[in-house]
Amino acid sequence: MGKKQQDAKERKSLLSMIKGEQETAGFVSDAAISGMAESLSLPVSDVYGVATIYSFVSTSALGRHVIRICKSVPCHLQDAEMIIKAIEETLSISPGETTNDGRFSFELTNCIGACDQAPAMLVDDEVHGHLTPEKISEILRSYD
Ligand code: FES
Repeated sequence: MGKKQQDAKERKSLLSMIKGEQETAGFVSDAAISGMAESLSLPVSDVYGVATIYSFVSTSALGRHVIRICKSVPCHLQDAEMIIKAIEETLSISPGETTNDGRFSFELTNCIGACDQAPAMLVDDEVHGHLTPEKISEILRSYD
């Protein structure tokens, strides 16, 4: 097998390992990254690089609910910044963080396909659109 084919095969195995870990553990820990690097004889930095490219992969444990605010241009133009601030104030966390009680993690993401309802966010798999700071606490209250 040529070097290129070998690399493509390794990448494919790595990606399915990363996906599997994300699905079963809910995130991909440093220990899991080292384990994958060892089993595929790849440098840890390469595995970490691949894991962090994909937005569905988290490298730290997430809360029970994950809030993802769209930061792409159409939402940005509809004042997504104000929504980000409202979440920060309501939950006392910034993007990339999880509340102390493990209830919510908060992340920024690219377009979630709800541009017609900008500004929009996802809580887990549910889309919430036409957001206002007032709506935020009401929406968050409905997640325990
Ligand atoms: S730009 Fe925000 S949902 Fe598409």
